[in-house]
Amino acid sequence: MTHSTNQVYPVIWHNNSVSLIDQTRLPNEYAFVEIHRSEDMAQAIKTMIVRGAPAIGVAAAYGMYLGAREIATSDRHEFLNHLETVAKLLRATRPTAVNLFWAISRMLKTAYETLGTVEDIKQVLFQTAQAINIEDVQTCQAIGDHGLAVLPKTPDKLTLLTHCNAGALATAGYGTALGVVRSAWRDERLERVFADETRPRLQGAKLTAWECVQEGIPVTVITDNMAAHCMQRGLIHAVVVGADRIAANGDTANKIGTYSLAIVAKAHNIPFFVAAPLSTIDFDLFDGTQIPIEERQPEEIYQVGDTILTPEGVNFYNPAFDVTPADLITAIITEKGAFFPNQLAKSLSPQML
Ligand code: MRU
Repeated sequence: MTHSTNQVYPVIWHNNSVSLIDQTRLPNEYAFVEIHRSEDMAQAIKTMIVRGAPAIGVAAAYGMYLGAREIATSDRHEFLNHLETVAKLLRATRPTAVNLFWAISRMLKTAYETLGTVEDIKQVLFQTAQAINIEDVQTCQAIGDHGLAVLPKTPDKLTLLTHCNAGALATAGYGTALGVVRSAWRDERLERVFADETRPRLQGAKLTAWECVQEGIPVTVITDNMAAHCMQRGLIHAVVVGADRIAANGDTANKIGTYSLAIVAKAHNIPFFVAAPLSTIDFDLFDGTQIPIEERQPEEIYQVGDTILTPEGVNFYNPAFDVTPADLITAIITEKGAFFPNQLAKSLSPQML
């Protein structure tokens, strides 16, 4: 059987600028936004034109290069000072996904370690941003294949449930959780994927469903409160989600609603997998209580298009992520293989990171 390979790359270098798929307009419009300046990249990350942990890491890396390009000095010290300001601007965009901070640190480290002129540093920064982009696609393909190896062996064809969008759109390409789905589809181990719609931003209904349709992967969209029912009916064989930040003990921050999904999966004895690159693991944090959780605007809850859903006078609380405790996670699937969450720190030697 052959499957179509409509590859999706949300962040690409094109015509001396960065082309971002505008994810706020999918699935109705497949449009690109051209980013020429670091400030515009920061705005694109904040407003979720580009979103998903690895994708915002790649976008921030290019943002660092765009910022470097704007600095008009040949003095190394002055250049590095200005670059620190660009890093600060990009770091202030979204707090939870650690890939953003990881990519910015890698770019800064590269700048400090590069000898030669300011122009030489700019050139190496460009190459590093390109490398981060390319590496992430390869990383996701490896995650997909390692994930496939740990999925339940029966039945022959699995139905997998995923939450939010941890697909090509959320990475440089291929995806993490959806990378596992893609690998399962490629090897004819997938019956279909169930996609939680993922209130309030609807990344599941809009983005995951769109990606699956692009590739002909059978997809069923459910509202978030239907997952337990589907599990009780035996419709789901495993859950696979992405991650925004994983603490050293395996506690995992991901899109709001992931935690409740893990609880209901446990209640139904269904394996619950987290798929993420090593760049999502934050060994500086002992456990999930230390992960900063982004709070977003209340409009995301009370407004759909021009329609206001709620009466005047109510309050809102809109955390964008939650933390799933490590003991609810069957395994964390990385590009280096799958690990028990409580074995992460022991299993990953410093040279692997
Ligand atoms: O707010 P978002 O859309 O950036 O949140 C995205 C998620 O929570 C993803 O599951 C996570 O970043 C992993 S993406 C491979």
